[in-house]
Amino acid sequence: MASEPARKRVAVLISGRGSNMVALIEAAKDPAYPAAIALVVSNVPDAEGLKRASAAGIATAVVDHRAFGRDREAFERALHAKLVEHRIEIVCLAGFMRLLTPFLVREWEGRMLNIHPALLPEFKGLDTHARALAAGAKRHGATVHFVVPEMDSGPILVQGSVPVEPDDTEAALASRVLAVEHRIYPLALKALAEGRVRLSAGQCLIDGVPAEQFWQRQS
Ligand code: GAR
Repeated sequence: MASEPARKRVAVLISGRGSNMVALIEAAKDPAYPAAIALVVSNVPDAEGLKRASAAGIATAVVDHRAFGRDREAFERALHAKLVEHRIEIVCLAGFMRLLTPFLVREWEGRMLNIHPALLPEFKGLDTHARALAAGAKRHGATVHFVVPEMDSGPILVQGSVPVEPDDTEAALASRVLAVEHRIYPLALKALAEGRVRLSAGQCLIDGVPAEQFWQRQS
């Protein structure tokens, strides 16, 4: 019998509670899932997500950005060394609240994903839910995209949207979007780990078709 292809070794980078990290860990519990969460790294030593990762039996590491002062690249070199040490093949940013320099972005070009709580290109940056409400958006959501040097701007792998209700609060909208995040991040990582994703002229193709079209066909 032909042996199964090796699962891709994935690191999840977090700064906080790590609920997206947990969604990826849960998905990877399925032996048929093409990626294994091999490492969780946080820049915040007491991030709640680190405890959740340890409880799930996953190796954790802390690279505290404060130890590097203003030298962002030195911080990233230390982080990169950890990823190499653990033979990581794909990096998932999941609530990792550091702006990256071109150093790390280039090292992981085409192999680093981020999840952002908005329908990019709308609402890049912080406080996306409050801004969506203030703008009177009718729909809001989340995006998984490849990381490029410009923040929240890389090729989009998958998006999921929810309606904005007339009496929505920021907390209610955030929790509706978070449920979408937990659904789409495992889907995005699966497609990448299966080798079905290609970047062409700044666009993301899955099985050779534009990502948006691919997901429409799935639904
Ligand atoms: C998530 O909503 C994620 O999309 C967001 O932080 C939250 C982390 O939650 N990321 C960003 O805003 C990045 N710009 P989690 O730690 O429970 O996954």
